[in-house]
Amino acid sequence: MSDTPFQQEVGKRRTFGIISHPDAGKTTITEKLLLFGNAIQLAGTVKGKKTGRMATSDWMQMEQERGISITTSVMQFPYRERMVNLLDTPGHEDFSEDTYRTLTAVDSVLMVIDGAKGVEDRTIKLMDVCRLRDTPIFTFINKMDREVRDHIEVLDEIETVLNIKCAPVTWPIGMGKAFKGIYDLMADTIHVFKQGQASVVPDDIQIKGLDSPEALELLGEELVEEVKEEIELVQAASHEFDLQEYLDGKLTPVFFGTALANFGVREMLNYFVEWAPSPLPRGTDLGEVAPDDDKFTGFVFKIQANMDPKHRDRIAFMRICSGTYSKGMKMKHVRIGKDVKIADAVTFLAGDRSAVEEAISGDIIGLHNHGTIQIGDTFTMGEDRQFTGIPHFAPELFKRVRLKDPLKMKQLQKGLQQLSEEGATQLFMPLNNNDLILGAVGVLQFDVVQQRLRDEYKVECIYEPVNVNTARWVYCDDERKLEEFKRKGGENLAIDGGGYLTYIAPTRVNLSLTEERWPDIQFRSTREH
Ligand code: G4P
Repeated sequence: MSDTPFQQEVGKRRTFGIISHPDAGKTTITEKLLLFGNAIQLAGTVKGKKTGRMATSDWMQMEQERGISITTSVMQFPYRERMVNLLDTPGHEDFSEDTYRTLTAVDSVLMVIDGAKGVEDRTIKLMDVCRLRDTPIFTFINKMDREVRDHIEVLDEIETVLNIKCAPVTWPIGMGKAFKGIYDLMADTIHVFKQGQASVVPDDIQIKGLDSPEALELLGEELVEEVKEEIELVQAASHEFDLQEYLDGKLTPVFFGTALANFGVREMLNYFVEWAPSPLPRGTDLGEVAPDDDKFTGFVFKIQANMDPKHRDRIAFMRICSGTYSKGMKMKHVRIGKDVKIADAVTFLAGDRSAVEEAISGDIIGLHNHGTIQIGDTFTMGEDRQFTGIPHFAPELFKRVRLKDPLKMKQLQKGLQQLSEEGATQLFMPLNNNDLILGAVGVLQFDVVQQRLRDEYKVECIYEPVNVNTARWVYCDDERKLEEFKRKGGENLAIDGGGYLTYIAPTRVNLSLTEERWPDIQFRSTREH
């Protein structure tokens, strides 16, 4: 049976995010991808942290004005018969739960590694999240225009530290000043590096075969032999690419290049649009939803406030999981059990925030949210299903909130409740006192909350240190045991912003001891919306 036009369109979608440690080159590579997608005319126009270059969209400009990058922007661009949706995952100090949750809305991931530094902390953490869903991963080893580490050693590190098999698809010829290009092991083709094409779509100079006279002319006899030996070594030491293993998240195809000098990125992108999965099925409480099902469904994975200073609304980012969104359609907001008419969703084609007429499975749309939408909310054509797997993560940072003006308690509580529903922070209210404790995964979340309380709720608050080291959501099937635990462990128990019982541990040791003492109680480090 041949595919319907709708199924063909869905099959063209490639929805992915980039994970990396700060400074590995995520921003730079994003910019080059947009260049190849014709989404920007000249690279160098996407925000530069230090250079303060122009932003591609007003949202980014907003971030720049505020000096922080808290959005998970979405960039859609066509490339080679495909429609690519790139979800930006903030990866700097402003690292937060948004980063994690964005990974629930993608079908695959590109991991960028600094060739000189190898595997770094943040990458390890983000990979752990990808593991939860066996997300397929492409790897780009960056900065070949510098003197970097031995490549085989870096591959080894990826295999052992990140526990994934590496299948090099391209291999660099030389590095630093002597960087000559990359060799495509699968196509037996050299792509020749040419300086000075960093901000344009570079020429694609190809040489077929390492044994060809052209290769000999470019590299010289000695280097050709060297490269051939190295390739043999690499092939013996690494794995061959296997599409199924990649799709299962067990093996990553590896590419080399330099994002800054704009080389090797296109070669990676060409394989990416071929191999990366089109929209995958998503789990709900009533079973999986297939992307080519024509009944519309979607879930909200992120809410962004104040994206446009002129409008005080918030944007809820929705991943469409099946069917088609069309302008003005009605959909069911499952949690509140009501139909809502969505007339003005925004889309993200070519980095512009423009009104969208239609979007399909795999695409992301932005809904204007006036406070009724929360992270994890499901929208359907009337069914009462709920998407699963959109987690809250146990925060790692905690602060107690104090009011400057004690008379504003009501506003403070309302503000914190709403901000926690939105996922901007997590709120914990201890059972045995009136403290309000905020939890965050990234330190910048606290500043954002403080600023938003001031701007949106007219509440001035201050933070104080609090003796909480980590939090765990408490579950127990046995009511009696749970009651006993509540009685005896009461001093460290709290209710979170969603109404769930939580153990807020003063130390890790306390947590382990408590876990040992109460074997029938589950202490979970994530909870689903
Ligand atoms: P990030 O988003 O992952 O944090 O990294 P970003 O792209 O901002 O890159 C971090 C730094 O590394 C930037 O330099 C960038 O120019 C540089 N860089 C990225 N790719 C390459 C590459 O292929 N080769 C080399 N040599 N450098 C690369 P910066 O000086 O910190 O910032 P900026 O002033 O260029 O913005």
